[in-house]
Amino acid sequence: MDALALPVGTTLDRFIMRKQEDFPFASGELSQLLRDIALAAKIVNREVNHAGLINIGGAYGSQNVQGEEQQKLDVVANVRFIRALRNGGEVCTIISEEEDDMIQTGNCHGKYVVAMDPLDGSSNIDVNVSIGTIFSVYRRKSAFDKDGDLLDCLQAGTEQVAAGYIIYGSSTMLVYTTGNGVNGFTYEPSLGEFFLSHQEIRIPEEGTIYSCNDGNYWQFNEGVRAYLDYCRKAGFTARYTGSLVGDFHRNLLKGGIYLYPATDKTPKGKLRLLYECNALAFVVEQAGGFASDGKNRIVKIKPQELHERTPFIIGSRKMVETALHIMQEEK
Ligand code: AHG
Ligand code: MN
Ligand code: MN
Ligand code: MN
Repeated sequence: MDALALPVGTTLDRFIMRKQEDFPFASGELSQLLRDIALAAKIVNREVNHAGLINIGGAYGSQNVQGEEQQKLDVVANVRFIRALRNGGEVCTIISEEEDDMIQTGNCHGKYVVAMDPLDGSSNIDVNVSIGTIFSVYRRKSAFDKDGDLLDCLQAGTEQVAAGYIIYGSSTMLVYTTGNGVNGFTYEPSLGEFFLSHQEIRIPEEGTIYSCNDGNYWQFNEGVRAYLDYCRKAGFTARYTGSLVGDFHRNLLKGGIYLYPATDKTPKGKLRLLYECNALAFVVEQAGGFASDGKNRIVKIKPQELHERTPFIIGSRKMVETALHIMQEEK
């Protein structure tokens, strides 16, 4: 059955099952993996909702490999997702923004590798602004009888077999793609279920929202500054929360562009190719949009290291094209 025939209100489990029926020879492991992610999302959602009450807001007291102050919820979310993926058994290796090295689950026969940003928008945890989780799933390349290796983890975004995000916002949503369109599910906490609410999401080709940290204006190159000037002159609406997932989700539904270009402080950009950019690039392309580092299609970049960063421009197709055009001209 085609997704379009599924009524709004279909549970995520049922949706995954129906998708699985379209591939009678598939083993169902990817379906199980997606269920594991949904389970971890429910647990993290509960922790996020209780954060102010059970003293898991605030700093954890250590830095991650990126040199960022870890928040307690960064660590909690990281542990919860790793545990769910380990227990699920489909994943051999996990890489995470919050871990220096690969995490081996011990499931040597697991077919998949997961890259994740367990908690995106850490700076917004304590102030009750939307935060998220971002994930990418790859098929392992190495032999099945041992741990996954670095080559399994350093695959280009074009190799993703599934990707998506969870937004813990005014409501909690799971949005994902397996390369056949993008669908969004809203969490109903009293029932403990995600329900199909946003079917076959398409990002508007054009939009009038731009999301960028304007405080970095004088740290951007002339091309980026010229594009931001263009947005201001055009009277576009500026919307930036500091949570990539939140800013991206808004732009996906309403039409818009998100930019985190290189700055003096972060000459390679701030966002991480494997944990943040590839997943959202896969989603946006599946919804009809585009993602670039200023020159290359994000999903075409061959990663060299786990924590690699990249400049990131993502959103409505025509807006990204205009941005790239203006940036090239001003160079
Ligand atoms: P994370 O919380 O996972 O480290 O990611 C933070 C990212 C992203 O969510 C956000 O868009 C960006 O950092 C904000 O950075 P600035 O505060 O420099 O604008
Ligand atoms: Mn972080
Ligand atoms: Mn992040
Ligand atoms: Mn994070």
